[in-house]
Amino acid sequence: MKKKIICVVGTRPEAIKMAPVILALQAEQWADVKVLATAQHRGMLDQVLDHFKIVPDIDLNIMRPNQSLTELTARLLVELNEVFLAEKPAAVLAQGDTTTVLAVALACFYHNVPFGHVEAGLRTGDLRSPFPEEGNRVIAGRLAKWHFAPTESSRRNLANERITSSDVYVTGNTVIDALLMTASQASDLPIAADVGKRMILVTSHRRENFGAPFNSICRALRTVAERNPDVLILYPVHPNPNVRNVAHDMLSGLSNVTLCEPLDYAPFIASMKRAHFIISDSGGVQEEAPALGKPVLVLREETERPEAVEQGVVRLIGTDYEAIVSAAQELLDDPAAYARMAKGVSPYGDGQSSARITQILREHFVTAESSAEVMPA
Ligand code: UD1
Ligand code: UDP
Repeated sequence: MKKKIICVVGTRPEAIKMAPVILALQAEQWADVKVLATAQHRGMLDQVLDHFKIVPDIDLNIMRPNQSLTELTARLLVELNEVFLAEKPAAVLAQGDTTTVLAVALACFYHNVPFGHVEAGLRTGDLRSPFPEEGNRVIAGRLAKWHFAPTESSRRNLANERITSSDVYVTGNTVIDALLMTASQASDLPIAADVGKRMILVTSHRRENFGAPFNSICRALRTVAERNPDVLILYPVHPNPNVRNVAHDMLSGLSNVTLCEPLDYAPFIASMKRAHFIISDSGGVQEEAPALGKPVLVLREETERPEAVEQGVVRLIGTDYEAIVSAAQELLDDPAAYARMAKGVSPYGDGQSSARITQILREHFVTAESSAEVMPA
């Protein structure tokens, strides 16, 4: 009998990173794959699902405008309870560190269903940063049966938490699978970017940056735009009202700054490729941009993704106004500093992560079970 595997996606990055796993599992004869969209994000999730042509079997449509963490978690747990009772999955997979993942891991624990954690073991060691993601992933890690760790350093983080080593698999990050599946597709740029002009691509959405730090980020972007009229800034603005309203208030009306809606995945990758460099607090962008040879200035004080920083292609600059302005200006003015960061390296994966995850599950559900059947009693 086929094994029912529920693959959960809630937000944009989860869908991007789960899509290669879903597509790989759907090709397996032994797996009955059900895609569960919590739709913690609505529009941005649908953008990604459309891109990968994935149609959810179950959609909780959970998003509310400006949702609070508590309400979101509580509503997710109640809805997931119903799904688990009805579907009785053999295993559930979820990716990353969002509220969706926290709720899924907990629901699996309550229902005694094995939980596979994709992108396991990322840690900053500071429960408040990123908030609430560090707490979410620590809890999800404690409750998981399979830990699909992207790198050796994430495996070590799990070992430090005394997670059973035989449950941890270093698979690479599935984001590189998604990137490679998409980067070869032709896609138009979202703006008419004059070929002679350099472009800075910006994204920002971290909760711990809301308020004064985000104001400082926007002020710095404004200064970079004003001091460099020959440079274009493209900023697809996250729809969270704490971001959207401030970004539009502080950055509208500059002729070389384009604020746009979140981009579909293919045009976003085309924009990364076109960019001279990237300023971002996004996790996924820190993983993708090095593979495209694009420097990233990260608007955070620390990162759970140390590999690209160690290789010199990602730099942590925080949210201080002066620090952002000077780091951006250095990359614009100093070709040697730029060249040091613009190296094509891919510390997070080789495009085969979803194949490895599928193989591990196949061994668990098919190979191990069939050899158990022939074992003498
Ligand atoms: C969430 C995740 C964060 C992840 C990020 C990726 C949590 C707590 N946060 O943050 O870890 O890095 O997604 O983008 O899980 N909204 C829309 N349309 C959308 C998406 C969001 O309007 O498609 C607005 C809604 O008002 C929503 C708000 O953004 O209530 C916040 O969404 P939420 O998922 O709670 O937090 P994010 O900041 O997006
Ligand atoms: N992304 C996208 N369109 C955009 C901005 C980002 O498709 O306008 C992609 C990006 O390539 C990366 C992912 O979204 O794969 C990152 O998502 P986000 O920054 O929302 O979340 P995080 O990675 O920080 O959790």
